[in-house]
Amino acid sequence: MDSGKGRDIAPAKGKVGVLLPGMGAVATTFIAGVEAIRRGLSQPIGSLTQRGTVRLGKRTDNRSPRIGDFVPMTALDDLVFGGWDIFEDSAYEAARKAGVLSKEHLTALQQFLETIKPWPAVFDPAYVKRLHGTHVKKGKNKRDLAEQIQADIDAFRKKHDLARLVMIWCGSTEVFMTPSAVHGSLDAFEKGLAQNDANIPPSMVYAYAAIKAGIPYANGAPNLSCDVPALMDLSKKTGTPIGGKDFKTGQTMMKTILAPGLKARLLGLTGWYSTNILGNRDGEVLDDPESFKTKEVSKLGVLEHILQPHLYPDLYGGMHHVVRINYYPPRGDNKEGWDNIDIFGWMGYPMQIKVDFLCRDSILAAPIVLDLALFLDLAARAGMSGIQEWLSYYFKSPMTAPDLYPEHDLFIQLMKLKNTLRHLRGEELITHLGLEYYD
Ligand SMILES: NC(=O)c1ccc[n+]([C@@H]2O[C@H](COP(=O)([O-])OP(=O)(O)OC[C@H]3O[C@@H](n4cnc5c(N)ncnc54)[C@H](O)[C@@H]3O)[C@@H](O)[C@H]2O)c1
Repeated sequence: MDSGKGRDIAPAKGKVGVLLPGMGAVATTFIAGVEAIRRGLSQPIGSLTQRGTVRLGKRTDNRSPRIGDFVPMTALDDLVFGGWDIFEDSAYEAARKAGVLSKEHLTALQQFLETIKPWPAVFDPAYVKRLHGTHVKKGKNKRDLAEQIQADIDAFRKKHDLARLVMIWCGSTEVFMTPSAVHGSLDAFEKGLAQNDANIPPSMVYAYAAIKAGIPYANGAPNLSCDVPALMDLSKKTGTPIGGKDFKTGQTMMKTILAPGLKARLLGLTGWYSTNILGNRDGEVLDDPESFKTKEVSKLGVLEHILQPHLYPDLYGGMHHVVRINYYPPRGDNKEGWDNIDIFGWMGYPMQIKVDFLCRDSILAAPIVLDLALFLDLAARAGMSGIQEWLSYYFKSPMTAPDLYPEHDLFIQLMKLKNTLRHLRGEELITHLGLEYYD
């Protein structure tokens, strides 16, 4: 299978502004890590754009370039960071409070991190009930607030002479919402902004401002944000790549590694009980039942789609899937995720698997933010717009075209991502058929 001559991709020249609504644990760990890598103090572990390779042609060809050499990728030195938060803390202060990084790393990066100060946020505690900040914009209505975001972006672009920008939502998880009439069309949405419609949460105001200006947007949290028809339409109109939702990091990453394996062997599953303890600000926000509901829905979809109980009713038809998150301050960002998996095999004999993942949430999320920023910038330069399903690899709850079920299997997602890169460069897609080696 040959995808032809590939796409025209504009060169990765000039500086790229990475806009981060929400400068908490994830955003500051991401910024600090990039700066540490730039200074040679650290390695980009966990990042596909920096460390991944892509096989080209036949297995006998021995062509496996680094992804960063295969497609024109913006260099880390060209990234400039900006963002918004409801607290005035600089990236240094926020990183110190988040408690993810060691004193040694913080001290080495202090001067640089102190230069990054958040702009006042668009925020309303009705949508994130556990937080109360004062570093917040005032505006006549939500349209006015979107214009203020746009003005921040314009000033940032000018100040740093930026060639391009991307925006990655690293803000808190908002309360659970389902799409409603105001999200149904761009027209209704723009009227809703002017009329302060309650169904437009702050994350949508940022997403609207970005997409309207042709700035690629990805949503790292599970709230709707750009996952509504109005903003999808806008992204097609302005030729803007978008993606979401919810970074796929600790427990769900493990789930989307293990579940495809069980299904590949046709082992049955009666139940999967997942629980977490975490003590960071994210944990505090998720302690509110309305924000937790948004996260729960995002986490629960995964097994259903991977195991396809409608196709395998005897194996997965009656499974119980439970997800719990408990706010437990002593653990800070170092989450512990337990999974108890009840499976059954030949002749129905039951077995159990226990997973205890002592992970670091923001350490797992930071390379995802980097890859999304760089791949979205690549997508924009390649003229791709709308939902970038090939970036599902990074999300718990991937956005898809309407009526299409999401692909959750991490390995299928990775294959899709790499085939998209091959397609962009006009290389043969890899199907793993491989009959030619035996002809
Ligand atoms: N760390 C992970 O592994 C992971 C995985 C998936 C999703 N997420 C999501 O990523 C997001 C960030 O996680 P975190 O651990 O950095 O949380 P955090 O609480 O440390 O940071 C979020 C920041 O967003 C700010 N904020 C909230 N609403 C805002 C608004 N309207 N505008 C600007 N700033 C706003 C908060 O003040 C806070 O500083 C959360 O929604 C979390 O659920 C994280």
